[in-house]
Amino acid sequence: MLLRGKTALITGCNRGIGRAILEKYAEHGAVIYANARCPHSLDVLAGELGEKYNTEIIPVYFNVTDKEAVKQCYLRIRQERNQLDVLVNNAGIMRDALIGMVDDKIIEDVFSVNVYAVITMIQYAVRIMSRQNKGSIINLASIVGEMGNPGQTVYAASKGAVIALTKTLAKELCSRHIRVNAIAPGMIDTDMFRSIGEARMKESIARIGYGRLGYPDEIADAAVFLASDMAAYITGQIVGVNGSTII
Ligand SMILES: NC(=O)c1ccc[n+]([C@@H]2O[C@H](COP(=O)([O-])OP(=O)(O)OC[C@H]3O[C@@H](n4cnc5c(N)ncnc54)[C@H](OP(=O)(O)O)[C@@H]3O)[C@@H](O)[C@H]2O)c1
Repeated sequence: MLLRGKTALITGCNRGIGRAILEKYAEHGAVIYANARCPHSLDVLAGELGEKYNTEIIPVYFNVTDKEAVKQCYLRIRQERNQLDVLVNNAGIMRDALIGMVDDKIIEDVFSVNVYAVITMIQYAVRIMSRQNKGSIINLASIVGEMGNPGQTVYAASKGAVIALTKTLAKELCSRHIRVNAIAPGMIDTDMFRSIGEARMKESIARIGYGRLGYPDEIADAAVFLASDMAAYITGQIVGVNGSTII
């Protein structure tokens, strides 16, 4: 029960890595504001997990790029609990294109979700965490944000930005005891990874030392650790979870 007594907000909980983090956080006793875009898509799951792990899961439906909706979510958290210990910026999108095919729409879409929204989410979280004089912010970066990958200029640049803002905010917020870390997954078995297609998947898996894709649960374990008091002296770190992947 590493997260008992903590309140967490997680974006993009309806599938993939976010869903795995949602379940692990529930298992560890956190009260969770669980975000998804599609109204009611988490209602049943939130009820089931809340009952199974004897905790409270509150679905909050909004698009992370909708600033007014984000604001309303934080107002609700302040009114209902006046506490936020953990923010997990998980929601993200990937749009692959070789440089000649990159257009403004791809850049705007990817940066809106992967970077702009992450900054907005953090701005509101910091207001609550500053008053508490503690908090943990966890951003989902990517191995390609550190290492680069052909055909992923825009996505890799957005995740590079996440890494830079993580390191910067860790320095800016340490006096308020707000820790800011990122997880940089390698290739994880989710819809996002599978969207690259069968041929590229095989070629990609050949570059993983462990010889297999990562499981969403393996990212969630790192997210539990970083949110917990076991990581009390860890900030500004980019935690690679990639089974020894060479890109
Ligand atoms: N899978 C990997 O190999 C891998 C590797 C490195 C990093 N990552 C990062 O890990 C995070 C999770 O990835 P994943 O593999 O779980 O991806 P995924 O299976 O594609 O799921 C993405 C999640 O983000 C949500 N989302 C996207 N845009 C949103 C928006 N505007 N507002 C609210 N929610 C939004 C999606 O909601 P909808 O269902 O409504 O679309 C979905 O819940 C992402 O930041 C990704 O970049 C993944």
